[in-house]
Amino acid sequence: MRLLITGCNGQLGRSLHDLSTEHPEHSYVWTDIDRLDLTDAQAVSRAVEEADVDMIVNCAAFTNVDGAEEHEAEALQANADAVANLARTGKPIVHISTDYVFSGEGWLPYRETDTPRPNTAYGRTKWEGEKRLMALSPDSLIIRTAWLYSPYGKNFVKTMLAAAEARDELRVVYDQIGSPTYALDLARLIFAVISAPRRPAGIYHFTNEGVCSWYDFTREIVRQARCLQGQDRYAARITPIRSEEYTYKTPRPHYSVLDKKKVKDTFGIDIPYWADSLSHCLRQLLSAGGC
Ligand SMILES: NC(=O)c1ccc[n+]([C@@H]2O[C@H](COP(=O)([O-])OP(=O)(O)OC[C@H]3O[C@@H](n4cnc5c(N)ncnc54)[C@H](OP(=O)(O)O)[C@@H]3O)[C@@H](O)[C@H]2O)c1
Repeated sequence: MRLLITGCNGQLGRSLHDLSTEHPEHSYVWTDIDRLDLTDAQAVSRAVEEADVDMIVNCAAFTNVDGAEEHEAEALQANADAVANLARTGKPIVHISTDYVFSGEGWLPYRETDTPRPNTAYGRTKWEGEKRLMALSPDSLIIRTAWLYSPYGKNFVKTMLAAAEARDELRVVYDQIGSPTYALDLARLIFAVISAPRRPAGIYHFTNEGVCSWYDFTREIVRQARCLQGQDRYAARITPIRSEEYTYKTPRPHYSVLDKKKVKDTFGIDIPYWADSLSHCLRQLLSAGGC
């Protein structure tokens, strides 16, 4: 199959690129905003026609949650108008969305059938993108994910590693619960979807297995980093705090666990446990031995 991958300089795009060497059965067209601005409808239509692709994997997005609060119109362009431009090409799309479409006020894992109720500009624009995609390209798939990290770009794992090295104390919230997602595991799922004999259209939820708080996640990041590189380098004390003790520009979901039964049943996949995948990522980042 010939695939157009958008957002190829981002975390997920680069993880897909890493994995593409294991999939020589496909051919690839890699684009990001420097080569193809997806908000330009004519450029999108021309590029898709010229590249003659069979399917589009849309990893591009405006992902800055606080930035979207201040620049919602810009976020809407990237997260919804751009998706509509891709959908109008008539090609099937694998599109990535987010747990932020939900309010995060529940206490049970969110299913694909649950009604979105975003509390943030980022969540609103991503949900708008989902709705436009389903209206214009009903053969497409939407994969919602959460807490994405990788060796690339800016993410929680890299931020906490740097902070644990530089600071004496990390104060991290313990009352926001979710499931980390290693971008390489999400990339593997995307290849499984693309290669599947049947690809039922619609929404799927995917994260790594298991559930933790940001505090637990930080404890594990630092524990594994110390194991790989020594106690002295990541010496910070880690203190659990409540959300109200931290100043957020944007409200954060207290509970954003996604139910993964549908994706597992449909594509017959096993999903790695979050701490095991974290270990793979940290080895990539710190290029060290094991523990
Ligand atoms: N990161 C998370 O924690 C998280 C959680 C849940 C869901 N997701 C979803 O997962 C997907 C992948 O996220 P990610 O973390 O890999 O994102 P990312 O690292 O921010 O990469 C997104 C890429 O899209 C590009 N882009 C933005 N606007 C564009 C446009 N108009 N035309 C073409 N390219 C454009 C960005 O370029 P610039 O950097 O130059 O803007 C960037 O290279 C997104 O759909 C995101 O909403 C992410």
